[in-house]
Amino acid sequence: MFWFVVGLLLLTPNTNSASERPHIVFILADDVGWNDVGFHGSDQIPTPNIDALAYSGIILNQHYVQPICTPTRAALLTSRYPSNIGMQGIPIAGCEPRALPPGKLLPQYLKDLGYTTRIVGKWHLGFYKKEFTPTYRGFDSHLGYWNGLVNYYDHVYQDLIPVKMVKPFPAQGINITQSDIDWAGGDQLSGVDFHRNLLPALDLSGRYATDVFTEEAVNIIETHDLSSPLFLYLAHLACHSGNIGKLLEAPKDAVDKFGHIIEPNRKTFAAMMSKLDESVGKVVAALKSRGILQNTIIVFLSDNGAPTLNVGVWRNWGSNYPLRGVKVTQWEGGVRGVGVLWGAMLKNTSRVSSQLMHVTDWLPTLYTAAGGNLDDLQSAQLDGVDQWSALVDDTPSRREEVLLVLDERHNVSGLRIGHWKYVTGYRAGLDGYSGDIVLGTTDPPYNPEEVLQSDAGLALATVKLRASAADILRLRSQATVTCSSPVSSTPCNPEKGPCLFDLSVDPCEVNDLSAQHPNVVQKLTELLSKYSATLVPQLNEPYDPVRADPAKFNNIWSSWED
Ligand SMILES: *[C@@H]1O[C@H](CO)[C@@H](O)[C@H](O)[C@H]1NC(C)=O
Ligand SMILES: *[C@@H]1O[C@H](CO)[C@@H](O)[C@H](O)[C@H]1NC(C)=O
Ligand SMILES: *[C@@H]1O[C@H](CO)[C@@H](O)[C@H](O)[C@H]1NC(C)=O
Repeated sequence: MFWFVVGLLLLTPNTNSASERPHIVFILADDVGWNDVGFHGSDQIPTPNIDALAYSGIILNQHYVQPICTPTRAALLTSRYPSNIGMQGIPIAGCEPRALPPGKLLPQYLKDLGYTTRIVGKWHLGFYKKEFTPTYRGFDSHLGYWNGLVNYYDHVYQDLIPVKMVKPFPAQGINITQSDIDWAGGDQLSGVDFHRNLLPALDLSGRYATDVFTEEAVNIIETHDLSSPLFLYLAHLACHSGNIGKLLEAPKDAVDKFGHIIEPNRKTFAAMMSKLDESVGKVVAALKSRGILQNTIIVFLSDNGAPTLNVGVWRNWGSNYPLRGVKVTQWEGGVRGVGVLWGAMLKNTSRVSSQLMHVTDWLPTLYTAAGGNLDDLQSAQLDGVDQWSALVDDTPSRREEVLLVLDERHNVSGLRIGHWKYVTGYRAGLDGYSGDIVLGTTDPPYNPEEVLQSDAGLALATVKLRASAADILRLRSQATVTCSSPVSSTPCNPEKGPCLFDLSVDPCEVNDLSAQHPNVVQKLTELLSKYSATLVPQLNEPYDPVRADPAKFNNIWSSWED
């Protein structure tokens, strides 16, 4: 009898006491494109630490995000499709009195399970009243910024207000076109946006943001009181661009490593990316030296595809090659994000996963991983599904469909069901293939040994079996997307109607099959109507440049309505 009871206890998951729950480190990169990491097949920018996580964990190669910052972050923390809560479309501007609507967020659910919750880096879910800032929304601490971006060294954010967006704000239903985004004539507000909780962190001025966030994350790990599990949400600035005039910034020694890249902006982008990769290595090494790596779940994602072209005035020279489209679009280049999961408890690692996942899935997935009971989440009507056992045991994904984009202002949508992708509407100028940044470079050959010898590679090898160089090259080849070009293909014309692609043979969305498969189109049109029926119109508010102006607050972005 005694042994029977012990056996049951050993076999029963989800009975962990708080101190045995896994630590969770969630790293969200900004505007990093599909082709900006080494494990997707590009030789141009080595990312040995991120690659080590990928090869030693699970490469989430069918992981979808929203095509732009605020919606992805809203989806991650609420597990709701942004269009179900009015958070789709244009991100929150600095002087816009808008925030993620009240409601329980991922860190608050984890606090219920005893977690200490920390955010480092970008918020971008509203701050016009302090009750919308991170430490009022479930995080025990925050070092970082509240807006969509800052410059990497002076930590200034500049709000550029499109002429048409100052009061009176356009009525619902207006078509926003590229020419409306005429920033030049609008007001401009400027101020430092670097905060420790509610207080300005001016002492950090001049320090490279990626280094600041890395040091903070490492310090949190080193000093964490192990009597509670840690949830660390490390939302990097890298590789988002800064403000006009300082779009791309990186330390000179990092830039100098990329002599093989001719194009100067791409060269600086590569340096920014290498700093992000270095950060991942330092964080993993800190988990190892703190002795908690074997009990930590690590997620690495990009929040959306890269703005390879100007999106508004921002561009970072990232690459989504060979995928179609860029940041803000519903094409794969905008929404099929870089994704990696690592954890010693995952049973089949060193694999390329084709399990369909969406960013909304992380809340229930991590809640289950943390030993929570899904019944606790039932009243919240989540759009995400719990994928934990599917990921741990390598069983089929728990979802068959994903709403990728539903944006009633730009009148675009994207849906995926099984291998079918359905697209309506378009974003003029942003819908093509733009990510192939070669420009006469001669990239050095990929070096698996560099992955194994990286900070992350060495730390991870102490917990999980070390992959061989041959394993690495095999996984990398499996994770690389190649566009098969059908002998005769029909280009999509979204002006004529919905387009349909079979992603299993056409991952680059070249061949519109809508005419061949009217039944599938019909089914997906009906599914889209279902999602449209629950759509909450975008919650955008008229901008308030007068009251929000940082000039009134010592040139610091502040909760101006307090
Ligand atoms: C938006 O654009 C469509 C197509 O160009 C046009 O038919 C419609 O009238 C426009 N709507 C508004 C509110 O301007
Ligand atoms: C592990 O994953 C690989 C790659 O997907 C697969 O071929 C293999 O069958 C899986 N092994 C188990 C035990 O599930
Ligand atoms: C929105 O898109 C749908 C389908 O693509 C089209 O039928 C409709 O006319 C568009 N509406 C506007 C206002 O452009």
